[in-house]
Amino acid sequence: MCAFVWMCRLTCLILLIDYGASKAVAKPNVILLFADDLGYGDLTMYGHPTSTNPNLEKMASEGLLFTQFYSASPVCSPSRAALLTGRYQTRSGVYPGVFGSNSVGGLPLNETTIAEGLKAEGYNTSIIGKWHLGVGKDNEYLPTRQGFDSYLGIPFSHDMCPCLVCFYPNAPCFDKCRTGESPCPLFQNEKIVQQPADFLQLTENYVKGAESFIKTNANKKAPFFLYMAFQHTHHPQFASKTFTNSSVRGKFGDALNELDWAVGQVFQFIEDAGVKDNTFVFFTSDNGPSLLRQIRGGNAGLLRCGKGTTWEGGQRVPAIAWWPGMIRTGKTMEVAATVDVFPTLMNLVGGKLPNVTMDGVDMAPILFNNQKSNRDFYIHYPTNPDKTLGVYAVRWQQYKAHYHSHGGLCPDFYPDTMCRSNYSLHSYDPPLLYNLHNDPSEIYALDVKEYTDVMKEIEMVKANFEAGMVWGESQMDRGSNSSYDPCAKPGCTPFPSCCTTNSFIEPDMSLHV
Ligand SMILES: *[C@@H]1O[C@H](CO)[C@@H](O)[C@H](O)[C@H]1NC(C)=O
Ligand SMILES: *[C@@H]1O[C@H](CO)[C@@H](O)[C@H](O)[C@H]1NC(C)=O
Ligand SMILES: *[C@@H]1O[C@H](CO)[C@@H](O)[C@H](O)[C@H]1NC(C)=O
Ligand SMILES: *[C@@H]1O[C@H](CO)[C@@H](O)[C@H](O)[C@H]1NC(C)=O
Ligand SMILES: *[C@@H]1O[C@H](CO)[C@@H](O)[C@H](O)[C@H]1NC(C)=O
Ligand SMILES: *[C@@H]1O[C@H](CO)[C@@H](O)[C@H](O)[C@H]1NC(C)=O
Repeated sequence: MCAFVWMCRLTCLILLIDYGASKAVAKPNVILLFADDLGYGDLTMYGHPTSTNPNLEKMASEGLLFTQFYSASPVCSPSRAALLTGRYQTRSGVYPGVFGSNSVGGLPLNETTIAEGLKAEGYNTSIIGKWHLGVGKDNEYLPTRQGFDSYLGIPFSHDMCPCLVCFYPNAPCFDKCRTGESPCPLFQNEKIVQQPADFLQLTENYVKGAESFIKTNANKKAPFFLYMAFQHTHHPQFASKTFTNSSVRGKFGDALNELDWAVGQVFQFIEDAGVKDNTFVFFTSDNGPSLLRQIRGGNAGLLRCGKGTTWEGGQRVPAIAWWPGMIRTGKTMEVAATVDVFPTLMNLVGGKLPNVTMDGVDMAPILFNNQKSNRDFYIHYPTNPDKTLGVYAVRWQQYKAHYHSHGGLCPDFYPDTMCRSNYSLHSYDPPLLYNLHNDPSEIYALDVKEYTDVMKEIEMVKANFEAGMVWGESQMDRGSNSSYDPCAKPGCTPFPSCCTTNSFIEPDMSLHV
């Protein structure tokens, strides 16, 4: 009913106010756990036979597991832009593709992020981990400029720098990654505290940062928002001493074990700090698995293709909501998406959404009342959205119509040719139509002539949506400038390989205190 948010903002607002008065407790803490390239089939709860993720299993058993949850893009930066703004990446301009370490652009500063929304409600806000929404000239796009009070992390994918040591004790990474760029910088707020970042210590450092942030704010009785955006399980896989060789699933399994451990630690910290009853936790992933990495990449389970495609495997991701005693437990088949997180949180805390076109809808009916989702369609844009081609696929009720597709990050020998990197753009007229309720793997295309009513609805949804799309100027088209590569020793030569701190140093966690 609130599908066309721009047409019915008033209705939605009334629902929010109504709900807010009846259910919400005062300012719950919010923790958003975000995995990287973790596919629909990678966790035990979604059927992986040899993963071990006891802490995420526990979270799911005490919370609500989504079976039809979508990320906004099949790749990283646009997906994160949409998560944090509640708007498709085409509006904010975070397309095509992803930001590099020396990109000129970033998430435009006039976009309102979840952190800014919650900060306005008195929250202390922190991001730990991967940002990937730009660094830019003189740090102009770092999260500290987008509503986050503090930051600890590598601000982009950790393969966007030379990859050195990935496994204990001194084992090299699977490949060398980008040797021409500066060593991976670990930022604390706007300062580089370790370069290259020590992968063997990285997750532990993230966990220490989370502990200190949670403790400090719980002690102050200040509501807090922690956005924990793991580097795991993006290529190259890495793990500390404890998790090297810890999984029968190999390097991906080791990395996933470390991620799961970190999730467990975060739950331990909210319990120790006495805020467990008043903390809403949400877990999901930025996009599907990178099939290109073969056995070191993730798995989309029964879904078609993976990262970089608008097939289900590219964008349907694991998701769990957790708030025992407050939200429902079990499983939901309702369709929801990362763009829904912002409106849901603002409702939860009784805050106001920015006065912009929102693509997200409030998930409260799903979380609290076992009711139908406010969302009755979902739009798929590719890695490289293009005004001429427009929307690639439309999910409406149980149906999904593909208007265009191309392959993703996937080897040329992958069995399904349509997933392969070398599968070029194909357009479909009539569209390829699937019923995802009885064909989640998108194998058996329906005869559209027998579904004229369904196609009529889908065409209408698509036309309305596209008529309301105001494209933001592409941030990626602003290009890159090698002098923007983050460097701990500005001005050093030979740049950027000289940008190292003398040795791996322990970041100073007291900055969070
Ligand atoms: C941000 O600024 C750009 C450039 O002026 C403008 O096109 C865009 O609409 C603005 N976005 C928002 C959310 O205000
Ligand atoms: C992990 O396993 C490999 C292969 O068996 C072995 O060479 C390596 O020493 C092991 N590393 C650790 C830290 O146990
Ligand atoms: C929201 O923005 C529109 C135009 O962008 C403006 O007409 C309207 O007055 C604004 N509403 C509020 C409550 O600020
Ligand atoms: C993709 O690569 C495979 C393996 O090299 C080749 O057999 C196939 O023809 C290629 N497909 C296209 C569309 O180029
Ligand atoms: C790159 O950035 C530097 C420093 O701001 C500037 O002097 C230079 O002109 C830029 N190069 C390009 C190609 O824009
Ligand atoms: C947020 O908390 C940090 C410490 O965790 C503190 O330094 C900072 O001043 C706080 N910011 C706000 C806006 O309360």
